[in-house]
Amino acid sequence: MGIFSNLFNKPLEPIDFGIIKTDVHSHLIPGIDDGSRSMEDTLNMLHKFQDLGYKKVITTPHIMSDYFNNNREIIYGGLEKVREAIQKVGLQIEIEAAAEYYTDTMFQDLIGKKDLLTFGKNYVLFELSFQYEPANVKEVIFELTSAGYQPILAHVERYPYYVNKWDKIEDYINRGVLLQLNLNSLTGGYGKDIQKMAQSLIERDLIDLVGSDCHRFEHLMAMESLKTNKYVHQILNKPGLLNKTL
Ligand SMILES: [Fe+2]
Repeated sequence: MGIFSNLFNKPLEPIDFGIIKTDVHSHLIPGIDDGSRSMEDTLNMLHKFQDLGYKKVITTPHIMSDYFNNNREIIYGGLEKVREAIQKVGLQIEIEAAAEYYTDTMFQDLIGKKDLLTFGKNYVLFELSFQYEPANVKEVIFELTSAGYQPILAHVERYPYYVNKWDKIEDYINRGVLLQLNLNSLTGGYGKDIQKMAQSLIERDLIDLVGSDCHRFEHLMAMESLKTNKYVHQILNKPGLLNKTL
């Protein structure tokens, strides 16, 4: 019994996040949303991404009409400044920018104008309210796919009204939505229910992309503790994980 239980509980080797190459969800452009507050913050976080093994980050500032009125000029302007700072200090990591769109009417206007910030194969990251399922979500998905965009639902595990609602999750998949998971949900930092939901999504093999959703340096420190987490090993080793293609 002793030998076997030791075998089963054998700790995993710490994994290198470099095997997925690219992070696809973060808030690293200083001063434009609730993420990084200064260029110094941004450089510290980028340094840590590099130490964790990442080769590239696609940062995704919030675009939310009531709180973060960002647009193409603000985000790309900020990106240029970050790239200059990266060069100055000699970091190797690459950075691109897109956005995390909140499903409000401003988002629908931008879809109508085909004016969205994308990454990869026309990928669009969008998020929902944490309080309630938005009434317009099916309409938004239809508008996105009709306009030729590939919608990605941000941190699918974090919406309390979808926890263990597998029919709802299936419905998103059937409508052509890809699912992104926050690795930090696996620490339990967002609560036990969210942690369990994240584990189940991985067990059911429903996750297409993973992200740090890094707003602050602490989020990356938390990821250190995930290097030996078995669910993290499972998802990072998934051959079809789309982070590896970006
Ligand atoms: Fe985010």
